[in-house]
Amino acid sequence: MANETSGTALFDCTGKVALVTGGTRGLGRAMAHGLAQAGASVAVNGRKPEACEQAAQEIARETGAETMAAVGHMGDWEGLEPMLDRVLERFGRIDVLVNNAGINPTPMPVAEMTEAYFDKLWSVNVKGPLRLSGLAAPRMRETGGGSIIQVTTVGAYIGGAGMAAYTSGKAALRNLTKVMAQEWADWGVRVNAIAPGSFMTDMMRGTESIPGFLEGAASLSFQNRIAAPEEIIGTALYLASDASSFTTGTVIAVTGGVS
Ligand SMILES: NC(=O)c1ccc[n+]([C@@H]2O[C@H](COP(=O)([O-])OP(=O)(O)OC[C@H]3O[C@@H](n4cnc5c(N)ncnc54)[C@H](OP(=O)(O)O)[C@@H]3O)[C@@H](O)[C@H]2O)c1
Repeated sequence: MANETSGTALFDCTGKVALVTGGTRGLGRAMAHGLAQAGASVAVNGRKPEACEQAAQEIARETGAETMAAVGHMGDWEGLEPMLDRVLERFGRIDVLVNNAGINPTPMPVAEMTEAYFDKLWSVNVKGPLRLSGLAAPRMRETGGGSIIQVTTVGAYIGGAGMAAYTSGKAALRNLTKVMAQEWADWGVRVNAIAPGSFMTDMMRGTESIPGFLEGAASLSFQNRIAAPEEIIGTALYLASDASSFTTGTVIAVTGGVS
């Protein structure tokens, strides 16, 4: 149970170490910043060393938190262990893993699906989070537990024409959230997911060329708008902190309504 039950103390992450995959931009950057502001030491993952270094330094400057760059490709099964080891070497523990990195390239209808496209999306969006969670959970257990947050999508519920490889992978990640929560409850490791709706990030901007896509994305929300990346932070802090001590195996939709 949470030691503190008062206001913002519930959401305090002081002393925790968080690894945020895809933390250089978009939702991951917002969550990395939010966690750092709440007191966590933060490892910022992404594929590009300079982008990781820059994001880590900016977050440290803006929040005063300890940060580091944790370069690694989520589709590289073998490379994830050394990446996590670097975080453990620097900070000594891991308490929070946010599996946020994800890709959603140009849509591909089922009838035109290539094996390479399908495998690429599942490798980054499903196998990577599964592998990294499987590496991190035993380390969390050694220090009394932790919190793993998977980032899925509202599309995991509602699909989306042309999005088969993306939304089916995210639906798998939703199921894996439940499985992991069941397997690791006794270890004190909670596993939950955030299912974002439409947020204005580079991923969303990448759809601007598809006629009507942004309007459709906004209309998915009861509020008829696309959210700012910072609007994900509250849910991430809830799931990362002791505020959610009795919440595991669940998915929280942050969609402005639809789920
Ligand atoms: N934006 C939305 O409306 C929305 C809606 C639903 C769900 N989501 C989900 O939310 C998550 C974040 O989305 P976003 O919109 O913030 O995306 P984004 O703006 O495209 O940012 C993606 C981040 O992931 C990193 N990344 C990409 N491929 C990677 C890989 N193979 N290994 C490690 N890092 C990688 C990127 O950095 P590098 O390029 O430097 O590697 C970047 O930091 C994704 O899982 C996405 O599916 C987003």
